[in-house]
Amino acid sequence: MKGIFITFEGIEGSGKSTQAQLIRDLLIGMGFEVVLTREPGGSPIGEKIREILLDSSNREMEAMTELLLYEASRYQHVAEVIRPALDDGKIVICDRFFDASTAYQGYGRGIKIDTVNKLNLIATNGLRADLTIVLDLPVEEGLRRLGRRPDRIEGEKAEFHERVRQGYLKIAESEPERVKLLNARGSIDETFEKVKQVINDYLKLRKVRS
Ligand code: TMP
Repeated sequence: MKGIFITFEGIEGSGKSTQAQLIRDLLIGMGFEVVLTREPGGSPIGEKIREILLDSSNREMEAMTELLLYEASRYQHVAEVIRPALDDGKIVICDRFFDASTAYQGYGRGIKIDTVNKLNLIATNGLRADLTIVLDLPVEEGLRRLGRRPDRIEGEKAEFHERVRQGYLKIAESEPERVKLLNARGSIDETFEKVKQVINDYLKLRKVRS
């Protein structure tokens, strides 16, 4: 069996890291072999790139430099971690993947979507998520939930985050088969129920058993 690739997306404070961990634990409990990973990062080189990307003192960073660094982290991550795990038949859960570049660098920063798509294709070597869950909530609520000093991207203006949110809504609208949009305004438990439903529906559709 080829593995299953699930990605979580959403604006800052949408709770995707929490939900990704809860789903990892649930799937492990069901007997699946699961790898939970994240972007930017997920590999030793990628984690170093992540530090550069999120460092608030890197104020001069050009939008294209930013995009290329996300893509560099992604190329390494796919080659070193994600592909091998999928080839082993594992379920890979990734906290953000190429849709984040479309939403943040495309819709957020204003780089042409076509350019982002091309670079995404190079970085992923054509690998696409089987299932993507976008957790949606208003920007103010997400930023309020953060509760710590914002990093370079989190510290952007509310309008930037609003464009990112709208970008995710467009992505979900354009690919309804792969991308499931969930309202994440409720409690962790309420959102987890919705996420579980989506994952269970997908596993049933693929007729997957642990
Ligand atoms: P995280 O906070 O979900 O770990 O993600 C780190 C930040 O990087 C977050 O602000 C979103 C941003 N990001 C992009 O701008 N483009 C990308 O391609 C990815 C993967 C993340």
